[in-house]
Amino acid sequence: MSGQNAEWAARARAVMPGGVSHELRYRAPYPAYFTRAEGAEKWDADGKRYIDFKLGAASQLLGHAHPEIVEAVSRQMGTMPYTGDCHPLEVEWAEWLCQLFPSAERVRFTGSGTESTMLALRLGRAFSGRDRVLRIDGHFHGWHDMLLKGAKPGANTAPSLGVPQAVSDLTVIAPPDLASIADILDRDPQIGTIFVEASGANYGSVPLPEGFLTGVREIASDSGHVLIFDEVITGLRWSPGGRQARDGVTPDLTTLAKVVTGGLPGGAVVGKAEIMELLSPAETRDGLSPPVSHKGTFNAAPMVAAGAVKAMELLSTGAVQSHADAMAARLREGFNASFERHGVAALAYGDSSTCHLYFGGPSIGGLDAAAIRRTPPALVKALRDALLERGVDFMSFTSCVTGLPHTPDLIDEAISLFDDAISTLIRDGVLS
Ligand SMILES: Cc1ncc(COP(=O)(O)O)c(C=O)c1O
Repeated sequence: MSGQNAEWAARARAVMPGGVSHELRYRAPYPAYFTRAEGAEKWDADGKRYIDFKLGAASQLLGHAHPEIVEAVSRQMGTMPYTGDCHPLEVEWAEWLCQLFPSAERVRFTGSGTESTMLALRLGRAFSGRDRVLRIDGHFHGWHDMLLKGAKPGANTAPSLGVPQAVSDLTVIAPPDLASIADILDRDPQIGTIFVEASGANYGSVPLPEGFLTGVREIASDSGHVLIFDEVITGLRWSPGGRQARDGVTPDLTTLAKVVTGGLPGGAVVGKAEIMELLSPAETRDGLSPPVSHKGTFNAAPMVAAGAVKAMELLSTGAVQSHADAMAARLREGFNASFERHGVAALAYGDSSTCHLYFGGPSIGGLDAAAIRRTPPALVKALRDALLERGVDFMSFTSCVTGLPHTPDLIDEAISLFDDAISTLIRDGVLS
């Protein structure tokens, strides 16, 4: 081990579990520690340059250090970074969300996507008066206890120690199949809330069946369940108004974060006024204790809101999303051409500005989440190592997101590096 990355890793291991702040950042023998990012490129502590398809865990649709976001946040940092009070920028930001998202009649800001799904579930439970929640196998809703069971497809347990069984027992897992969902709801009167990742599991690596969102909307409306779309990734990425605006299906509540916060830390829950007003202390006897309690020191912090409002301005026309979609389509095409050239039975696919890889054959048709996500760990590691060595960084190992700063030239460079990585994996016998 030598170089700056190795030195940072040694220091990190002494003070941080695994040397990381997020389990997916772990890498053996050690990860790179990054020091600079601009547009769709970033540089590690050893000065190595990477083409970035992770883009801040899909939060930086505008690219790293977009000059107008930098300017807006810097100005706010100099005027009023954070006081813990109400302020005009949060109002402007909420007005933007109400304008863009069909389900948004009211907005409550949170500290992250995980906090958004926690709050939305509390609202669903409060409004329905029922504790149990139905969620779809393999969909991801953050790391908190209440929706962790089912995050790993095909497993009927929470993929973590420390989650109380009594909490997991409140979560019911369903396949993305309308008949099964209707049947489960019929048989379990304690379910009051339905949670769906609007893209399908893991930002569309397991696409939803055609008509699923419309169908689940009909089921929830007929049966009186609170329907929540998790648009933490799809919000402002699939379209300025998320997947719900693009596909014309309106949930009761929507969870947001990432792009919606201008790529800065935070999140939001938006939804129907009659549910969201449960958060308002205004009508209560003491004017202090709302029916549904929610606090959070950094909710809608001005330094975040300044960047978010600027991001809303830049992303509201849909032009950035169209560009990012086109770049992802170019990437998918290039990766598929590479698979074909090497005679590898694999597939690059994805919706909107995403690209996912499946190594089990040339199609994912008819496969469930567990089957689609069953890439052998040795292959995942070898691919990740080969790409990072060549200066290409993916998101969650076999997926990519694109954004405004990805140019055709950068995409073509990445395709060529990917092709070279595939040659190496074949040569080393990891891929055939
Ligand atoms: C669909 C979805 N929901 C919720 C979350 C949790 O968001 P956060 O990481 O901001 O807590 C994520 C994070 O990737 C996500 O992809």
